[in-house]
Amino acid sequence: MAQSPQSPADLVFALRRVTESAACAAFDWIGRGKSKEGDQAAVDAMRKALENIDIDGTVVIGEGEKDEAPQLFNGERVGRPDAVFKADIAVDPVEGTSYLAKGLTNALAVIAIAPTGAMMSPGPAFYMEKLAVPPKAKGKIDPSWPTSKKLSELAKVLGKEVSELTVFVLEKPRHRQLVEDIYEAGARVALYPAGDVAGALLAAMPGSGIDALMGTGGTPEGIMSACAIRGLGGEFLGRLDPQLQTETKAVEEAGLDTARWYKLEELALSQDVLFCATGITTGLMLEGVERINGQTKVQTLMIAGATRERQVITSYLPAKGAP
Ligand code: FBP
Repeated sequence: MAQSPQSPADLVFALRRVTESAACAAFDWIGRGKSKEGDQAAVDAMRKALENIDIDGTVVIGEGEKDEAPQLFNGERVGRPDAVFKADIAVDPVEGTSYLAKGLTNALAVIAIAPTGAMMSPGPAFYMEKLAVPPKAKGKIDPSWPTSKKLSELAKVLGKEVSELTVFVLEKPRHRQLVEDIYEAGARVALYPAGDVAGALLAAMPGSGIDALMGTGGTPEGIMSACAIRGLGGEFLGRLDPQLQTETKAVEEAGLDTARWYKLEELALSQDVLFCATGITTGLMLEGVERINGQTKVQTLMIAGATRERQVITSYLPAKGAP
């Protein structure tokens, strides 16, 4: 018998258990130099927790292909087959596996859910160039402009000086020129070696201290960021930007246009998204998992796009935190 539909607020509240479970499972692997094992623990916990969610879901974006990491497989059915809400699911049980293995800040567990067919399928493209900016700048910045023009326009729209802007960029050799261009324009750069989902979301949240995300990162992370920002409000644009030889060939063979910037509404086709991120290690956006006197403390960002609700909740779970 079909389950009665839950409101988006109820669903996202239940969904937080999925990323909380992944974060709690990953906790045991923080700072142990074992990214694969940590990822696998988070994947297993996430998959199990999804069984209790009132969604008939299909995984369309599983993290893993790029890194050959364990994954919730693309095409895998999760949740409850009799649920009314038919959805596509994108998961990243550990966003920032290197942070987890090295015991560094900013590792997250992430999930994004959208009605079936509402997430762009990136095909064989693992990498995407991204631009994320706050709601006030939506539709005002052409991503193909030179960096200096993008920043001067952004500053104008936000009522700031360029020197007051901070741009989140992944610290990668491919971004040397971009970083130079940002310095040259007079803005600050927040350089992080990983974790551009947090960078994108913070860029879309006024007052977060990050005014933009620029540069190239993973396509799965791009689609998940787009879903979250579709729900939050804000701008996210993406252009397929293959970095690997095999990827470039596959993208060419698939006839995909690497010059085209996709709009937010093409990456996340519906506003009825659900998004949760739980901190594994404390970072820019969320506090990490902590064990305190036999309880496990977790912090989760929840976004329900249908109602434009954004909440951060801190939960104290019993024992090892297996909800
Ligand atoms: P993981 O989930 O594999 O740990 O991804 C971390 C990450 O930094 C993403 O935030 C980013 O989009 C992507 O990797 C960039 O990939 P690469 O490190 O290969 O440039």
